[in-house]
Amino acid sequence: MQPALALQDVVVAFGALRAVGGVSLTVPKGQRRAIIGPNGAGKTTLFHAISGVVQPTSGKVIFEDADITALPPHRRARRGMGRTFQITNLFPTLTVRQNLFLALRGVSPGKFNLFGHARPTAEEQQRSAAALSLARLEGREDIAVANLSYGEQRQVELALAIANQPRLLLLDEPAAGLSPSERAMVAEVIRALPREITVILIEHDMDLVLGLVDHVTCLHEGMVLVEAPPEGIRGNAAVQEVYLGRPRH
Ligand SMILES: Nc1ncnc2c1ncn2[C@@H]1O[C@H](COP(=O)(O)OP(=O)(O)O)[C@@H](O)[C@H]1O
Ligand SMILES: [Mg+2]
Repeated sequence: MQPALALQDVVVAFGALRAVGGVSLTVPKGQRRAIIGPNGAGKTTLFHAISGVVQPTSGKVIFEDADITALPPHRRARRGMGRTFQITNLFPTLTVRQNLFLALRGVSPGKFNLFGHARPTAEEQQRSAAALSLARLEGREDIAVANLSYGEQRQVELALAIANQPRLLLLDEPAAGLSPSERAMVAEVIRALPREITVILIEHDMDLVLGLVDHVTCLHEGMVLVEAPPEGIRGNAAVQEVYLGRPRH
């Protein structure tokens, strides 16, 4: 079967530093894949190469059999690639629902003009309602984002990413900085996503991630260290050594 995503020997160099040092991987359609690894392993940079935020120095990014290596981020989004960001990019004074409608029209902070937009169409309303339901935000639609808890704001970011109905969803540490109960909620939202959406998830917390995904890629110093199902990651000596910073004896 045609994979959702294939990376062929992707290198991203910042001057002398190879943040991504030649990564090849294939993610089948519908798979939930975690990218784990210690800080600085190159996880976010790899995501940026997939989403088009950075151009690989060399190598190829193949999305559903199309070479998209040269495409800018908005063209990848239009092809069905969705993502959230580590930094919050919501309109704080607008309601949850208004943020959804703007995201559905591809409006981002900085390009925003509330008066330049017509009323939401029936389809936009339906997509927005479906995304809010998936993100467990029912009943919170008319609250300004600034008045939500931090955990709920992360749920809104997930709703925004889901609303455009991506076939591939990239989530960079969606539970970072959350309390245990908020983390559990985010995990629940990801677990309940439609199975046909391919999900690639960067997550630092192995306990959270290993219960959520089908397959795991562990990066270390910009390279794939181990690729295995969750059972092969738990207790893997190489992963423990780099990921948990276990000292050598
Ligand atoms: N824009 C950039 N310019 C220079 N170095 C960068 C840039 N972005 C990331 N790096 C470096 O690349 C390495 C990998 O970073 P990153 O992809 O953010 O790792 P991770 O997400 O796994 O923590 C780090 O050493 C980081 O300092
Ligand atoms: Mg990162």
